[in-house]
Amino acid sequence: MIGRPRIHVAECDSTQLLLAPDAPEGAIATTDHQTAGRGRLGRRWLEAPSTSVLASVLLRPPPERRAPELSLVAALATARALEEAADVRASVKWPNDVLLEARKVAGILAELRSGAVVLGIGVNVNQTCAQLPAETTPPAASLRTATGREHDREHVLELLLEQLDVAYASWRELGLAAVRAELAERDALRGRRVVAGGTAGVASGIDDWGRLLLETPTGHAAVESGEVLLEE
Ligand code: BTN
Repeated sequence: MIGRPRIHVAECDSTQLLLAPDAPEGAIATTDHQTAGRGRLGRRWLEAPSTSVLASVLLRPPPERRAPELSLVAALATARALEEAADVRASVKWPNDVLLEARKVAGILAELRSGAVVLGIGVNVNQTCAQLPAETTPPAASLRTATGREHDREHVLELLLEQLDVAYASWRELGLAAVRAELAERDALRGRRVVAGGTAGVASGIDDWGRLLLETPTGHAAVESGEVLLEE
């Protein structure tokens, strides 16, 4: 069961550093504030204290599964949880963002540690507009800015862990094929003109290996990793 045992601290550098490598699968670390929160591609993840869900989960996927796919699995679980928590429609922006109306509300960071995966999830829950980082791409949102009211962070975490438990179990068994239809339905990039991992084209979906598919002027391309820039 994902979510047990749980360590909670009022403040830490990053929850990514709190889990012992020999902790049982499903163990989580949470905090109310990070002083050195980590984002993808060496970026920082910033939040005002006591506004967010900040969690890291220790997972040991079977060797036949590709750990980077976990970012998409966790993003789907987060999207489902946000929809359960509030009257919103959440989409997934490859490879690791959760969006509400084209604004980023959550990000996922999967890091390999001694053969395990530390899956970090940050959800903006109760930030006001003024507390969100300005001038980010995509622009930031919180559940509060999207719905006009505050939400119980512990409840959002509980829903998120339940959804992650379900999504992780399906992925362990069947890989991304288990969530192919939902990924397509929630794909924020499909049909958009993008530059992904340095390749320009129109996004046409996500394959069963978690790659972003592009239609380029010279044919099909599948991008494994990297940053996505939206054109126009
Ligand atoms: C991203 O969008 O770049 C990924 C952000 C991941 C942030 C979460 S918050 C909990 C965990 N601890 C961290 O330091 N980072 C992840």
